[in-house]
Amino acid sequence: MIKQGENFRRNRDGIRLFGESDFAGMHRAGALASHILDEICELVYPGQTTEVLDKFVEDKVKDAGATSATIGYRGYQHASCISINHVVCHGIPSSKKLKDGDILNIDVTVIVDGWYGDTSRMYVAGTLSRKVERLIQVTHDSLFKAIEAVKPGNAFGDIGHAIQSYVEGERMSVVRDFCGHGLGRVFHAPPNVLHYGRPGSGPVLEEGMFFTIEPMVNLGRPETKVLADDWTAVTRDKSLSAQFEHSIGVTATGYEIFTVSQNNRFHPTYS
Ligand code: MF3
Ligand code: CO
Ligand code: CO
Repeated sequence: MIKQGENFRRNRDGIRLFGESDFAGMHRAGALASHILDEICELVYPGQTTEVLDKFVEDKVKDAGATSATIGYRGYQHASCISINHVVCHGIPSSKKLKDGDILNIDVTVIVDGWYGDTSRMYVAGTLSRKVERLIQVTHDSLFKAIEAVKPGNAFGDIGHAIQSYVEGERMSVVRDFCGHGLGRVFHAPPNVLHYGRPGSGPVLEEGMFFTIEPMVNLGRPETKVLADDWTAVTRDKSLSAQFEHSIGVTATGYEIFTVSQNNRFHPTYS
């Protein structure tokens, strides 16, 4: 008996290669995730709780007739991860209030018609210091330097190198303990997309690959630890951490970003 299922191509590294029509599905999923992150801007201010922000995400996903990829994922129970200040990633929404000057990453993953859209950005509650502004800017720019390296024939190591060389040149550090990932019809697929590396190393990019790039950058040292809740990852030295994430597809000549902000709100200062 032959098992019914989708026929799809994988390359020699076991990375799935999608076809032309699959890009449209990823754009629909990416647009919803990004639209929710556009709209949540208005709700981020001192005194706000992250569980209210999470409820907003959950409701928006439901209103769109879509599904949250994170609710029920390995026991996670929320529609977003919200990581404040020295939290690197996987912060759990709670009733704690945001304080003036807090920086936070909100990470949302939705499923639309079976396609996954995964994106995160930084937000600021109240006023922003120059030092923190620079952390956010460098993290944002490191993602875009990496995206510029996305084209067939380049290697995943070129992506990692673009991030690492830029961030370390700015005297900040790249987190090693978490990486980007292939995605498409599943949340996390090969390859691991490292945010550091040597040029030319790792698998070669091919047209039809879908993956995230999601660098986490620390003002201090790169080491992290996971708290007793088994999710919250923090910097060991308690230094501030920032992250931006896009879901991307490789085209014949370069890339398409599935999670672009329709309102140019990807960066907290809208630049
Ligand atoms: N969205 C995260 C990522 O970028 C994964 C979150 S998994 C969760 O890969 F369970 F913590 F939500
Ligand atoms: Co991701
Ligand atoms: Co994410």
